[in-house]
Amino acid sequence: MKNILVVGGGGREHAIIMKLSESSKVGKIYCAPGNGGISKYAECFDVKATDIEGMVELAKKLKPDMVVVAPDDPLVLGMVDRLNEEGFMTFGPKANAAIIEGSKVFSKELMKKYDIPTAFYEVFTDSDSAIKYLKQQNSYPAVIKADGLALGKGVIIAQNEEEAITAVKEMIDDLKFGKSSSRVVIEEFLTGPEVSVLSFTDGETMVPMISSMDHKRALDNDQGLNTGGMGTVSPNPCYTEDVAKECMEKIFIPTMNAMKAEGRTFEGCLYFGLMITPKGPKVIEYNCRFGDPETQVVLPMLDADLYDIFEAIYEHRLKDVDIKWHDGACACVIMASGGYPESYKKGIPMNGFDDKGQVEGCFVYHAGTKLDDNGTFLTNGGRVIGVTARANDLQSALDKAYEGVSKIDFEGKHFRHDIGKRALEFRK
Ligand code: AMP
Ligand code: GLY
Repeated sequence: MKNILVVGGGGREHAIIMKLSESSKVGKIYCAPGNGGISKYAECFDVKATDIEGMVELAKKLKPDMVVVAPDDPLVLGMVDRLNEEGFMTFGPKANAAIIEGSKVFSKELMKKYDIPTAFYEVFTDSDSAIKYLKQQNSYPAVIKADGLALGKGVIIAQNEEEAITAVKEMIDDLKFGKSSSRVVIEEFLTGPEVSVLSFTDGETMVPMISSMDHKRALDNDQGLNTGGMGTVSPNPCYTEDVAKECMEKIFIPTMNAMKAEGRTFEGCLYFGLMITPKGPKVIEYNCRFGDPETQVVLPMLDADLYDIFEAIYEHRLKDVDIKWHDGACACVIMASGGYPESYKKGIPMNGFDDKGQVEGCFVYHAGTKLDDNGTFLTNGGRVIGVTARANDLQSALDKAYEGVSKIDFEGKHFRHDIGKRALEFRK
């Protein structure tokens, strides 16, 4: 039996752990730092996901057969490289490949060099030149992106010159996101439905997973602030077979090959954030990891052994693995703390769960919960849980997920009532 350490502590990690636990080959699962809900499925250790040396020490103590590094920051900081140096089998890209998410300038230059469709762009390191360019272009909305990781907040869609200038000054001059925003990308505003496609790759074989759709705004009808994602559905109806074929030929395979040609072979989960524009699919962003909350709807659809896939990627034999998907659909509704994505309270008692933090008929993936001394679940973050259900069709999956949501109660709870609405309408 294989023992596994999963690095991270959100809903995505909970979904990975629950899928791994279905494998007949997997024995003990450890998680660091984990959370209240995860602790029911994995033994949790209080080591921060960004603490590279702390995690190496923990791995030396636990001696897992594999370490799965799920979040972006430890990947970009080189946690996989350090674990490999110490002889551990890992899942996740090395730092020289994680840069595909760690630097927008890198990813834009890669796409330009290898002719991968994306928005037209320019890079700036001083605000005067950036402002001069904005005035010349005089085209709004304008999209301004911090080069490095910025906790998902580094993209500004400026509606007019004033907003654009403010964004540029805050990023470059005031270093709003620290070093991450000392360089910015200004790019063309694209339109069209968005699709998330996660993929498994070992650098030679590319296996796109089933597609999904995120819902980023905080409130119903895509109103309110941008969040880390308030819900997801899979598959995404905008991602037709023709679009999938075009993406494979023009985006997925070329990206995998480009990374290899650059001496940065990507091994792990490569995430394609796509926009299906009137001129065809284009890349909005790459992530070097499983998306959150996309993973929460994609992994329940996987009809294969996740451990086998991870091991095959590490051993560069992904081409030999048979990866299938369930029919039907999956939906995830995020329950957040009142006030999220701005300020919110933590430590609020939650009820409605069984003793494993689940509700009947759903997978409840915990993102920000902890257990108190009496074993009660308390809120402990902005996004608290993702209530997920799989069914024969999207409407039934949504009905089941919302039924699960209705059973869970905590003061200030906040969720969107229209997850999947756009996907259902697209189908008609
Ligand atoms: P991110 O924070 O990187 O997930 O991106 C935030 C959102 O900004 C994306 O999901 C898109 O909706 C939007 N976005 C990013 N780049 C563009 C673009 N070039 N044109 C239009 N929308 C964009
Ligand atoms: N859901 C988008 C992300 O994981 O960045």
